[in-house]
Amino acid sequence: MDRQDWDARYRAAEPVWGLEPNRWVVRECAGLPPGRALDLAAGEGRNAIWLAERGWQVTAVDFSAVALERGRTLAAARPPGTADRLTWVTADVLTHTPDPAGYDLVLVAYLQVPAADRRAALRAAAGALAPGGTLLVVGHHSANPAEGVGGPQDPRVLFTPEDVLADLDGLGLAVDRAERALRAVAAPDGHGAAGTAIDALARLHRPLGG
Ligand SMILES: C[S@@+](CC[C@H](N)C(=O)[O-])C[C@H]1O[C@@H](n2cnc3c(N)ncnc32)[C@H](O)[C@@H]1O
Repeated sequence: MDRQDWDARYRAAEPVWGLEPNRWVVRECAGLPPGRALDLAAGEGRNAIWLAERGWQVTAVDFSAVALERGRTLAAARPPGTADRLTWVTADVLTHTPDPAGYDLVLVAYLQVPAADRRAALRAAAGALAPGGTLLVVGHHSANPAEGVGGPQDPRVLFTPEDVLADLDGLGLAVDRAERALRAVAAPDGHGAAGTAIDALARLHRPLGG
């Protein structure tokens, strides 16, 4: 999907991903001390806003201006100070160069692009990590169409945790975890569970002095 496709998808419904932060972002980031965060492919900002509410200074980047505008609106309705801690940047993460070593947390959640583009985006994301900083990558696992539920069915935009580690090989990052993460998905009518979605999750950090 290109920028126009994403803009159209965001225009067609609101909010597309819900207001709650992604559960893996909550699990992995709740214990981190607030600092500077970069959310790449931030969409409507559910994760960026959650981080900002916890005191993080967040730069949210996405190429959909429609999504970011919605994020701005949502942030304005949150507790005082939240919106002031957010910077919304309309840019393509494949060409955007974030501040080198500028962030204590870099988040890439559900960026759905082909493997070569994913590798380029993740290597740029790693370059934005300050010493001690954490990189969290979450997406739909390659096994999800066959064994899970929901998510994109195009295998070219799916990946495994091992793919992420290979993408980042040689950059000096330490691996905290790389796993299949199972997410219960509710039935569309809100009753019961429709099944279990399979996500790929990789969390790494740049060692101090690295
Ligand atoms: C599935 S949504 C995930 C949004 C958000 N990370 C979340 O978890 O709610 C994927 C997002 O990636 C964005 N995106 C896809 N390719 C992009 C690119 N090359 N540059 C910037 N944003 C991109 C889309 O506009 C969309 O907002």
